Amino acid sequence: MSALFTPFTLKDVTLRNRIAVPPMCQYSAVDGLANDWHLAHYTSLARGGAGLVIVEATAVSPEGRISPACLGLWNDEQAAELARIAAAIKAAGAVPGIQIAHAGRKANANKPWEGDDHIAQDDPRSWETLSPSAIAFGHHLDRVPRAMTHEDIAHVQADFAAAARRAKEAGFEWLELHFAHGYLAQSFFSVHANRREDEYGGDWRGRGRFLLETLDAVRTVWPARLPLTARFGVIEYDGRDEDTLQEAIALTKAMADKGLDMLNVSIGFSTPDAAIPWGPAFLAPVAGRVRQETGLPVAASWGIDNPHSADATVADGVLDLVMIGRVHLANPHWSYQAALSLGIDRPSWVLPAPYAHWLERYR
Ligand code: FNR
Repeated sequence: MSALFTPFTLKDVTLRNRIAVPPMCQYSAVDGLANDWHLAHYTSLARGGAGLVIVEATAVSPEGRISPACLGLWNDEQAAELARIAAAIKAAGAVPGIQIAHAGRKANANKPWEGDDHIAQDDPRSWETLSPSAIAFGHHLDRVPRAMTHEDIAHVQADFAAAARRAKEAGFEWLELHFAHGYLAQSFFSVHANRREDEYGGDWRGRGRFLLETLDAVRTVWPARLPLTARFGVIEYDGRDEDTLQEAIALTKAMADKGLDMLNVSIGFSTPDAAIPWGPAFLAPVAGRVRQETGLPVAASWGIDNPHSADATVADGVLDLVMIGRVHLANPHWSYQAALSLGIDRPSWVLPAPYAHWLERYR
């Protein structure tokens, strides 16, 4: 029996296996609206057999988008298009999840394949970026953001709650708060981005306040029976990794006390000067430590694309869910191929009947 293909239950939701498609921006929206590209993309991933498909970073406000082509969830029209996607994912047997986000000082960028840098400030598509302090990320994202006022903070937290409510109404059953990757929430936590001297800065409790309050605001509108998770960068690979990790673990425990159900463990990406040890499954041991020290279920991605190593991370109690990203872009049926590699030759277990039937016949 493969550990990767055992079901996973969190709250009232059961995934058919431990394979999740992590959020991956498509940079293909107009005015934050999902379209046929998104519908086909997410339907195909769900038909491929993963237990959970998480829709890409979806902005809680227009200025929270990474690029003008990112999805949004700040109005009902956007929610209606996303509802079609949630229903399609569910019809294909996967659980529909969505990640809600604010890009902070990394917002207002060009698409990755059109420069990945900030849009020029004299471009009509330019908007003001926000962050805890007026410090630019640097490198290709060198725009200095405006330091947020208390009013801005309350506004963004209300936007997160409103987006969570719309996500629930659109039929999503799994919510992930984007607290990672150098975007707004990660910037509050990061010493690279947060030099505030008020209650939102200072030690990890101050730098964690925005995340805890945002979680609180969302918890009040997101149903208790459905998983509420966060993606959080617990390490920067900037030379102060043990300190960051200990602070991140302390904050994760505080988030668990406030009703966080699972952590999608990731990297901070708060500084361009990080030395990230890219390699197969390099983040899995870090996620395993977070799991052990917090007692929360964890997921992680980053190069876990070998079915045997994915299976081992679950079997060994390192991860509860394995996030399989880029290889799903190359092969939406990765789960089926993984099952075959692990000796499970039961297509109907992984694929929908119109595919599985023909793979089981005429052998
Ligand atoms: C990403 N990633 C990402 N992460 C996230 O939290 N929200 C997002 O919207 C995106 N968008 C995104 C777009 C694209 C095209 C890629 C390739 C990646 C990161 C992604 O979820 C995942 O962590 C990485 O791709 C690493 O996992 P793999 O690809 O090594 O399995």
